[in-house]
Amino acid sequence: MRRKTIANLDVIIKNILKKKSTDAFIEESRTTELKKTLSIFDLLILGISAVVGTGIFTIIGSAIAGSSEGLGAGTAIIISMLIAALASLFSALSYSEIAAMIPVAGSAYTYTYATMGEFMAWIVGWILMLEYAIGNITVATAWSGYLANLLKGFKHILPDFIINYPLWLRNDFRSIYALCDKYGFDVHDKMPFIHLPYGLEIPVAINIPAIFIVLLLTILLIKGVKESTRVAGIMVFVNLSIIISFVLVGAHYVKPENWIPFAPNGFEGILAGTFIIFFAYIGFDAISTAAEETKNPQKDLPLAIIGTLIFCTILYISVALVLTGMIPLNGIDTQAPLAHAMRFVGNDWYAGAISTGALCALTSVLLVYQLGTTRIFYAIARDNFLPGNIMAIHKKFKTPHIITWISGAIVIIGSLFMDLNISAELCNYGTFASFIIICIEVLILRKTDPNRHRPFKVPFCPLFPILGIMLCSCFMIYKSFSGGASSLYFILWIIIGLVIYISYGYKNKRKNDI
Ligand code: ALA
Repeated sequence: MRRKTIANLDVIIKNILKKKSTDAFIEESRTTELKKTLSIFDLLILGISAVVGTGIFTIIGSAIAGSSEGLGAGTAIIISMLIAALASLFSALSYSEIAAMIPVAGSAYTYTYATMGEFMAWIVGWILMLEYAIGNITVATAWSGYLANLLKGFKHILPDFIINYPLWLRNDFRSIYALCDKYGFDVHDKMPFIHLPYGLEIPVAINIPAIFIVLLLTILLIKGVKESTRVAGIMVFVNLSIIISFVLVGAHYVKPENWIPFAPNGFEGILAGTFIIFFAYIGFDAISTAAEETKNPQKDLPLAIIGTLIFCTILYISVALVLTGMIPLNGIDTQAPLAHAMRFVGNDWYAGAISTGALCALTSVLLVYQLGTTRIFYAIARDNFLPGNIMAIHKKFKTPHIITWISGAIVIIGSLFMDLNISAELCNYGTFASFIIICIEVLILRKTDPNRHRPFKVPFCPLFPILGIMLCSCFMIYKSFSGGASSLYFILWIIIGLVIYISYGYKNKRKNDI
C-alpha cells in the first residue's frame, strides 16, 4: 500500500515537472517562420504604444496623492518612477534573452513550460491572466473617469442628468466611499448625485461606462479586428501628442511652492508610489516577444528596451513635475488627474482635449490587453489545462468567441468589486511575479542549455537577473506586509489557480494528451 502511494507520488511529481522541449517549440516556429522586418524604430513604437496609457493618464493621481490602498509619494513620485524603471529594465532584458532564444509566438507561459515544467507553466499562465484581464479592469475604470470628465466640458450644451449622472452608475462602491470620505459627504445621504443604493445590505454600484466599453471591444474582437495592432500603433501618436502638449501647456501654470514638501510621506510613500506606478511601465514584454521578427535582435532589442524605458521615464517625470507643480497635493484628482489639473487652472478647453486623447489611448490599451487575455487563455486551453470546447471558433467570424466572452466577463464582473487602485496593484503583483520567473529562467537556461544560440544575451549575467529577482521580490514582500486588499486578492487568485489545476487541469491534461 505504502509502496503504491510512493509510486503514485513519483508519477505525479514527474508529470508536474514535465517540460515541453525547447527544440519542439523552435521546430514549431520554423514552420510558421515570420518575416524579419522590424527595425529599431518599429520596436520603439511598439514598446511605447504598449507601455504608455492608464499609468500616466490616471494612476499617477493616486501614486502622488495616495489612495485607500496606500500612501502617496507626493512630488517624490519621480524617485518612484526611476525605481520602477530599473525593476522593469532587468526583467525586460531577461525577457529579451529568452524571447530571442525561443522565438515562438507566446509569452512567459510558453517559456516556463520549456524550462520549469507543466505545473509552473500553469501557475505562470494563471498569473498572466491576472496581469492582462485584471489590468484591464484598471484601464476600463480609468476610461470611465475620463468620459465623465469629458462630459463636464459640455455642461452648457448637455442636460444635467447626463453631465452629473449618479456616482453609483459610474463607479465601484469603494471609489464612492473614498470620494465621500474626501469631500466629507455621507454615502447614506439621499442627495441624488451621491446616494448609494443598497441591496441586501450590500452597496450596489455599477460602472456603466466601463462595462459599455468592455462589451463594445469584446464584440469588436469577436468580429475580428484584424487591424487592431495597427490602430494601436496610430493611437500612440495621439497619445504622445496629448501628453507632450500637457507638459508644454501645463508648465506655464507651475508654481514651485506646490512641490514642497517633496516627499510628504517619506520613504514609505515613495515605496507605495513605486508599487502602484509600476503599472505605467508594464508592457515591455511586447518588445521582447517581437524578437523573432526583429532584423537585428542582438543590437536592436536592448537598444529598444532601454530606449523605451528612458523615453517613458523622462516623459513620466515631466508629467509628474508639471502635475504636482500645477495643483496643491490635496487637490490632485485620482480619476482623471491631467484633465482635472487643466480645469483647475481654468483651461477648460484644454481639459476637454486631454480627455479626448486619454479616451483614445485607453481604448487602444484595452483592445491590446483584451486580445492578450484571449491569447493566454487559448494557449492554456490548447495544452489541455482547460476544457477544450472553450477554444471553439465562431463559424462566421473565425475568432475564439467563447474565450473572448469569458475574458470580457472577467473584466466586467471584476469591475463590480474592485476599484482602479486594487485592480492595478493586483495586476502589478502578477507582473512582478512573472518578471521574477523570467529572470529565474534565464539563470536556469544558462546552466541547462549553455550551448544554444542566443541572439541576445543579458549583460552582466547573473548579476542583472539576480537584481531583477531581488527588486521585484522586495516590492511584492513590501506590499504584502503593508496591507491592503490587493495582497489578499493575489493570494486568493493563486489559491483558485491551484484548486483548478489540482481538481481539473492535471487530470484533463492526462486524459487528453496523446
Ligand atoms: N503600462 C500600461 C498602462 O499604463 C499597462 O496602461
